[in-house]
Amino acid sequence: MVDPRISIIDKRLKEVRNIIAVSSGKGGVGKSLVASILALKLAKKGYKTGLFDLDFTSPSTHIILGVEGVQPKEERGIVPPLVHGLKYMSIVYYSGEYVSPLRGADVSNALIELLSITRWGKLDFLVIDMPPGIGDATLDLIRLIKKIKFLIVTTPSQLAFETVRKLIRLLRDLGVSIIGVVENMKLNQSKLIQQQVESMNVTFLVKIPFEATIEENIGNINKLLETVFAEEVEEIISRI
Ligand SMILES: Nc1ncnc2c1ncn2[C@@H]1O[C@H](COP(=O)(O)OP(=O)(O)OP(=O)(O)O)[C@@H](O)[C@H]1O
Ligand SMILES: [Mg+2]
Repeated sequence: MVDPRISIIDKRLKEVRNIIAVSSGKGGVGKSLVASILALKLAKKGYKTGLFDLDFTSPSTHIILGVEGVQPKEERGIVPPLVHGLKYMSIVYYSGEYVSPLRGADVSNALIELLSITRWGKLDFLVIDMPPGIGDATLDLIRLIKKIKFLIVTTPSQLAFETVRKLIRLLRDLGVSIIGVVENMKLNQSKLIQQQVESMNVTFLVKIPFEATIEENIGNINKLLETVFAEEVEEIISRI
């Protein structure tokens, strides 16, 4: 039997013009920071924007954005609260400070459930913060959201890029759009990653330097928006 929730997901996302999954394959490369600041910047520019944290094991955008004391409203589904001008939805509303006890098929189930109950309404952009890895969540999203586009984050590490390369190949094989690649935490001017990205005929978007002061600004969006990191994210927006 076809899961009836799948046709509901289509309906729920009908009025969302652009859906951007910030993904990598690799962990700890800055996906959540890119997703959060990208969403904030889009909202500041006047676009109707949503941020959806789909990292079931370690959701972190609520920490980056300093989200406290808000809850989604139940109203013929779930209406995400407005946080700093963003419609914000995260698994953390349900898991709180505990690790979400989801495994394997349960992850798919929770993901389908969240997608089918969340009422985003009209949005210009929905930014999705993806978990690390090229696992079920990634494959499910590709299957469930036809208009999804991927923004890929890597570091200058050859090892990180090896996984990113696999993600790019997978997306290609499945016919999924790739917006481009962001190289984060750069410590020098090496063009190694840029060359490899371009040799795969994928857009190389920006380089973001390693910024030692970023950690003390986590949770303070005004400070975060003043960082070099945020300036580089602005550059991404001008290219998408
Ligand atoms: N350009 C940067 N300069 C300095 N620190 C950074 C930079 N980008 C990200 N970080 C820090 O690196 C850590 C990992 O970033 P983040 O959580 O965004 O990565 P992630 O890819 O989402 O990780 P995960 O795979 O666990 O979800 C965070 O502590 C973040 O503040
Ligand atoms: Mg993350």
